[in-house]
Amino acid sequence: MIDVSLPDEAATSSLAGVLASHAPPQAVVHLHGDLGAGKSTLARAWLRALGVTGTVRSPTYTLVERYPLATGGEALHLDLYRIGDAGELEFLGLDEPEAVLWLIEWPERGAGALPPADLHVRLGMAGAGRRATLIPASAAGTAWLARLGDDAELQPIPEPNP
Ligand SMILES: Nc1ncnc2c1ncn2[C@@H]1O[C@H](COP(=O)(O)OP(=O)(O)OP(=O)(O)O)[C@@H](O)[C@H]1O
Ligand SMILES: [Mg+2]
Repeated sequence: MIDVSLPDEAATSSLAGVLASHAPPQAVVHLHGDLGAGKSTLARAWLRALGVTGTVRSPTYTLVERYPLATGGEALHLDLYRIGDAGELEFLGLDEPEAVLWLIEWPERGAGALPPADLHVRLGMAGAGRRATLIPASAAGTAWLARLGDDAELQPIPEPNP
């Protein structure tokens, strides 16, 4: 687990860049946090880091937006806030062999109908800024965080001394 302080949006963008540059070839990321916690901000910056240049629409009503990547495959951005129940996801046909990255806001609302997470990102308020907690959830996720921990660009909040 890694905690990161995000005092402003630029810090969120830089976290997105670091996460993107160390990601495994296929990654499922569950983005947790209350309304306004900064999930879409992180997702948008991540897509930009992957070279997406067009409009990044909010998937609030469409539930899913797909972005073809120059490096091959697709990134998927989901926002399940408005979903009635997880069964609705089946109508979207989320069988996505091309997906190399899933960024899922409000994943708890799609429980059981989503691919399991490699990484959980928990976002929360911290004064005027935000704080992120990165929690690995697969072997690929654990290796991912180990690579992040070695990146000087990422400055984790140190554990308090006991
Ligand atoms: N690190 C940060 N520091 C300060 N403000 C931030 C930070 N990250 C995001 N914000 C701001 O927080 C607001 C809400 O962000 P965002 O839309 O990304 O939240 P969200 O978690 O996706 O919310 P929702 O659940 O409604 O989709 C935006 O105005 C954004 O600019
Ligand atoms: Mg959002």
